[in-house]
Amino acid sequence: MFLLMEIAMNISAHGGTLVQQIVNEETARRLHRDAEKMPSITLSEREQCDVEMIGLGAYSPLMGFMGERDFHAVCDSMHRVNGTVWPVPITCSVDRSTASRIHFSQQVALRDERGRLLAVLTVEEKYEHDKTKEARLVYKTDSIEHPGVAVVMQQGEVCLSGPIEVLPRNEELPFARYYLTPAQTREEFARRGWRTVVAFQTRNPIHRAHEYLTKCALEICDGLLIHPLVGPTQPGDIPADVRMQCYEILIEKYYNPKHTLLAVMPAAMRYAGPREAILHAIVRQNYGCTHFIVGRDHAGVGKYYGTYDAQLIFNELKPGELLITPLMFEHSTWCNQCEGMVSAKTCPHGEDAKVFLSGTKVRELLKKGERPPMEFTRPEVADLLIRAMKTSS
Ligand code: ADX
Repeated sequence: MFLLMEIAMNISAHGGTLVQQIVNEETARRLHRDAEKMPSITLSEREQCDVEMIGLGAYSPLMGFMGERDFHAVCDSMHRVNGTVWPVPITCSVDRSTASRIHFSQQVALRDERGRLLAVLTVEEKYEHDKTKEARLVYKTDSIEHPGVAVVMQQGEVCLSGPIEVLPRNEELPFARYYLTPAQTREEFARRGWRTVVAFQTRNPIHRAHEYLTKCALEICDGLLIHPLVGPTQPGDIPADVRMQCYEILIEKYYNPKHTLLAVMPAAMRYAGPREAILHAIVRQNYGCTHFIVGRDHAGVGKYYGTYDAQLIFNELKPGELLITPLMFEHSTWCNQCEGMVSAKTCPHGEDAKVFLSGTKVRELLKKGERPPMEFTRPEVADLLIRAMKTSS
């Protein structure tokens, strides 16, 4: 019993060690100098986020971009060659002519579109980026209508792999107040005395259904980490700065601050449904969470995935492969007869008793300046969304 509690209080990072690839100031100065003489590549937005996630240790045990054997093993079997679960290739790719100028063991400066040095990659391999394979096996479609696949298809033809050294970010971080590294969330959980912590991934404002899941989960855990993804999402999704205001007001009004922590996850959304649910769980384990909410169509988009595929995929893992425990939730809605939030599991009433609004309907209402029903969205959140729609149009 004592041993179990110890484990729960300090859940290991995926693969055993919390990686930290951000270099100290002295190394950073040296890398800045040396990078002037290195070949430079400009990373896509998704790759920039991946660099950040690797740097923070959020992708532990990855210390850099994946090599060819891992790329194929991950696509084929959701595991790396060494046997650890990994659901989505984490790659850095360039076009053929750039690749032809880069050699084995060379250092390459990884920059953003403004030329800022983000990291230095020591090249271990160059290999053909099998984009169609990645699309079909990871995203389950090669349609470029799928926003995650569209990004894969725009990437370069050749992948470069190897460890990266990530530069500390000196500029003001986005959402700085809520920017906690995995080491910092772990410290914060310990400080608050939370033995069990459930993480909630979201790319949307928190509507009543989301609130219901988080509160049900919190009933059986010590703490709740509301952990919105704030990297790039597809056009049409509510921008992260607006969402952050919604989370703040909702937490202030409707959550117990003693048991709730808000922090951001600086990853890009891949919309890879089931495979991304596993990635999201691994990342939250690295942030020190013991439980992870997986609801309906987690990380899904359009009609590419079945409603519960992102839950079923966890059955493909062997016991102990992930230390974090997924908490599965059925589609939840408000039921007028029950006068509360329910799912098919807890409510006997039919569809006509349910308050269900499509995303399109919600957007329509908000654009007209009308609040969706309070059974769907809290009025404080609705008002923020209405205001944001007004200023963006
Ligand atoms: S996601 O891309 O981050 O999954 P979203 O922010 O909408 O999108 O969902 C966050 C989490 O809430 C996911 O686990 C999702 O499955 C779950 N979820 C969203 N809406 C519902 C709902 N009505 N019923 C049950 N689970 C839901």
